[in-house]
Amino acid sequence: MTPRNPYRTLSGTSRLAGVMGWPVSHSKSPRLHGYWLAKYGIDGCYMPLPVEPENFQAALISLRNLGFSGVNVTIPQKEMAMPECDELSDRARRIGAVNTVTFSKDGRMWGDNTDGYGFIENLRQEAPDIAFASGPAVVLGAGGACRAVLVALLDEGSPEIRLANRTRKRAEDLAKEINDPRIKVVDWPLAPEAVAGASLVVNTTSLGMVGQPKLEIDLAGLPQTALVTDIVYAPLMTDLLLQAKERGNPIVDGLGMLLHQARPGFHRWFGIDPEVTQELRDFVLSPD
Ligand code: ATR
Repeated sequence: MTPRNPYRTLSGTSRLAGVMGWPVSHSKSPRLHGYWLAKYGIDGCYMPLPVEPENFQAALISLRNLGFSGVNVTIPQKEMAMPECDELSDRARRIGAVNTVTFSKDGRMWGDNTDGYGFIENLRQEAPDIAFASGPAVVLGAGGACRAVLVALLDEGSPEIRLANRTRKRAEDLAKEINDPRIKVVDWPLAPEAVAGASLVVNTTSLGMVGQPKLEIDLAGLPQTALVTDIVYAPLMTDLLLQAKERGNPIVDGLGMLLHQARPGFHRWFGIDPEVTQELRDFVLSPD
């Protein structure tokens, strides 16, 4: 059958979305959403939107006025988006940042944060037997990415989260803000002891990323059944994951978190909850 629109041109009723950031050229979101738009044959477009921080507010309002369905917001604008939204999801409020904005027909802006959702969904897909409530989690880091992971793990019923960050004060401030007694701050050098009896270890630091130092942690005390995951996905196999795999622990890489966090936005803007598949992973990672 001949496709009705073989050139995939936009129509007058195309749904529009994109990703705002500064810079935004590194973002994989246009490739990711573009893949899903083509796969599901949707009359829509998802574009990179480079917006300098000082123009953020005006740009967001303009996108709404231009009839966009919504936008993703990336660093450094995730915190800036919060006060612009008329309504926030509970998780966005608790995480303290917005990565997905949806414009409603009446012009209201609804802010959500899907990073923690992406983190959990990735683990569920890659390690279907995972039981977040079954034992303590060790979380390394206390930066922006960590907040979403903490909130999500608490929501999944994690009984205890041992939080270790190089700058202890930052971990303490974060624990205080989230204000849940299940978060226990531990000294960074004591992380090897904190992994004893844990069922999950998560790296949320930038260590192990291309161009950054390695994450060096002794995993000798970690039960072999514990799942080890990294939110770094460049490289896909970080030293932490390699070390964990060598000693027989199950591992999950960080790419899926990026792919799954995009699903709620795509669903709201384009009407389909899209699938995360191996083909999508390969496509997002391929250089062309
Ligand atoms: P993001 O918002 O992406 O999480 P970030 O706020 O810069 O980025 O946080 C980076 C995380 O990596 C922090 O937890 C940071 O620790 P500090 O709070 O002590 O800075 C951690 N990190 C970065 N370089 C590190 C290093 N060389 N050793 C240990 N932790 C490091």
